[in-house]
Amino acid sequence: MSIKMKLLAGVVLAAAAGFAGAAQAQVKEVQMVHWWTSGGEAAALNVLKSNLAKEGYAWKDVPIAGGGGNQAMTALRAMVTAGNVPTSVQMLGYDITDWAEQGVLADLSPVATKEGWDKVIPAALQKFAKYDGKWVAAPVNVHSVNWIWVNKAVLDKIGGKEPTNWDEFIALLDKAKAAGVIPLAQGGQNWQEATMFDSVVVTTGGLDFYRKAFIDLDPAALSSPTMKLSFERLAKLRTYVDPSFSGRDWNLATAMVIKGDALLQVMGDWAKGEFINAKKAPGTDFMCFRFPGTQGNVVFNSDMFAMFKVGAERQEAQYALASATVDPGFQSSFNVVKGSVPARTDVSDAAFDACGKKGIADLKEAVAKNTLEGSMAQGYGQKAPFRAAYQEVVDKFFNGQIATADDAVKQLVDAINAAK
Ligand code: BGC
Repeated sequence: MSIKMKLLAGVVLAAAAGFAGAAQAQVKEVQMVHWWTSGGEAAALNVLKSNLAKEGYAWKDVPIAGGGGNQAMTALRAMVTAGNVPTSVQMLGYDITDWAEQGVLADLSPVATKEGWDKVIPAALQKFAKYDGKWVAAPVNVHSVNWIWVNKAVLDKIGGKEPTNWDEFIALLDKAKAAGVIPLAQGGQNWQEATMFDSVVVTTGGLDFYRKAFIDLDPAALSSPTMKLSFERLAKLRTYVDPSFSGRDWNLATAMVIKGDALLQVMGDWAKGEFINAKKAPGTDFMCFRFPGTQGNVVFNSDMFAMFKVGAERQEAQYALASATVDPGFQSSFNVVKGSVPARTDVSDAAFDACGKKGIADLKEAVAKNTLEGSMAQGYGQKAPFRAAYQEVVDKFFNGQIATADDAVKQLVDAINAAK
């Protein structure tokens, strides 16, 4: 063998060893940034952790509390800037699109194509989970925000029934007040008030109005008397909240309803995860009603696991996570615990309780009737700067830092314009 041949053979051997080395050097670990820190959320996340553990993956948890993910997104930016890129991140709507635009998200299409995601994930979710024809995120679920969660014993005690429109809602809250019960359990963070306001706007102006205002950012809708009335109604709701709501976490507000200290909470169906975690059952201990006057509409957000471009040694873990997430069995077992409904359209509702079954049926109907729309408060209406503007104005108004509904409308229009 000539020296040249020997050298070449050496290179080939080294390359083969390198290849084998790379294959062995796969990092069997999933590092996940998320904001699932409440009892119900942690229980749901455990389903995923244990499924991945069975496949030999360790779990590196990066929890950053705060619904809607505002804090998590801030922390994520810091991590990415420091070169510490997680395997995966819980993300919502336009945040995914924003990172995808920057070209930093991984391509999950090899998994998605093999598993036929295109056929089973609704178009409304694909709009965010895909970018430039490639899958960049694995959809976990569909949540919706236009729900109220009611303590059954308190409802019975005050002689109340399901309110189906705004006036009946107010009458019910008045009944609770008269009976000396806190009518409305509310937390005190901007995303919580904005999440409630999504529903107030839909019941006040209808879904078409909501779309004009928040999806089209139509100046006439944003500055309309209907928007003013929506703020007036939000102010009315404020009168049913106890004095110590400021800074309260959403799950503590849910706990008030679970314990019967308050009649109800307006919150996305992640609240159901808290009832389930407290061993409460729908129909017996609590009721799930659509926010009065929004029946037939589903204002949604969907948790997705966005994946960043990582080194080859971490790619298998990403693919394993993506596959485990969209797996039909997981979509059922996780969402039963989480309070959400499957992101896939082909998962049976058999394992779900009455609220889950309703959620699945409502979603199907909303897709068929085009009454499914993204939540402005939860990052599915507009990009982050608009959502932030919305959350801030709604929060200031709720906290009395903006005095009148007229001023709130003006400040909303200004803040939306400034975000453009
Ligand atoms: C997420 C839910 C989460 C909730 C409260 C929402 O933004 O979509 O999955 O349970 O925040 O943390």
